[in-house]
Amino acid sequence: MCDRYSITTAANAAKTLLDWYDAHARALPWRIPPQSNTVPDPYHIWLSEVMLQQTTVAAVKGYFLRFIARWPTVHTLAAADDGDVMAEWAGLGYYARARNLLKCARAVVSDHGGVFPNTSAALQSLPGIGPYTGAAIASIAFDRSEVVVDGNIERVMARLFDIHTPLPGAKPELTARAAALTPQTRSGDYAQAVMDLGATICTPKKPACGLCPWRDLCLAHRRGTMAELPKKTPKKPKPTRFGIVYIGQRNDGAWLMERRPNKGLLGGMLGWPGSDWKSDWDNGPQGAPPIDAKWQEITGEVRHTFTHFHLRLIVKTSRITVQQTLNSTHFVTREDFHPSNLPTVMRKAFDLARPSFET
Ligand code: ADE
Repeated sequence: MCDRYSITTAANAAKTLLDWYDAHARALPWRIPPQSNTVPDPYHIWLSEVMLQQTTVAAVKGYFLRFIARWPTVHTLAAADDGDVMAEWAGLGYYARARNLLKCARAVVSDHGGVFPNTSAALQSLPGIGPYTGAAIASIAFDRSEVVVDGNIERVMARLFDIHTPLPGAKPELTARAAALTPQTRSGDYAQAVMDLGATICTPKKPACGLCPWRDLCLAHRRGTMAELPKKTPKKPKPTRFGIVYIGQRNDGAWLMERRPNKGLLGGMLGWPGSDWKSDWDNGPQGAPPIDAKWQEITGEVRHTFTHFHLRLIVKTSRITVQQTLNSTHFVTREDFHPSNLPTVMRKAFDLARPSFET
């Protein structure tokens, strides 16, 4: 199937890339440098790979370091309070990952004696670990020869083999190409090398082909097509939804908040009570206030984009005098309230409302 790529060419390509990686690997907090005698800590590799799903290396670094400082082992994480973990994850997005992270840590401790399984298949039986993450952990933590394909690697393969089929349809073809190149040894380093190549040289825009160790093998470079690749099927435009949030503070400084149900968007996260988020804005979004008070609309609105839609929120604020809370709301004391524990959209709402509580 690999017309141009004989087994020897594939082995040479892997060797060329590993030599480049030995000299140019990025220093990342979860990574063991190439040629080091230290073995990777599977807990660190798992934690970083879960955090890196849909998130950039730059965004993940600080979170990773804070998590391992606070919960240095899978045992300590498994014993953590759910709310503390959700609060530490706040701002990283895709909160189902944090809930699965805890479930997975607890399963590793209760079902595997605190030791991560070392094959992709066994890893995939754990919560939050799919084919990509299973392959990445098996390869990076246990040096198993697994085919690891993320967005960076798809781009590199599309260019190396000059594949013009648009994504996501091109995935099987790109995976087959990646499989044919994956070496039997140092496969963890190899996977990370392709990721680094994609992140630093074979970048989406203006790839630095002059510095690329695979330049002489790269069909797109030879044909001058690299800027067009990978091709992508155009995405549907995102719809917009609308809603209201209510930010209320009691005289002693406590805030009226609610923990969102575990299922659904921002599941398990602390936030402000509010209306449902609806697609139509005809009569303004409807949603009864969570408590009886003089709610006032703040000038301006919150805008936030999720994976599948844009959200626009009206923010209403009030001082609260009643003590009784309704439904899922409760008061969070001034001392226990930390805006950094909120998901980004809720923090944006707080930032908009904050001045009206300072007068
Ligand atoms: N993206 C996903 N996993 C990664 C890793 N281990 N190193 C660098 N970038 C990544």
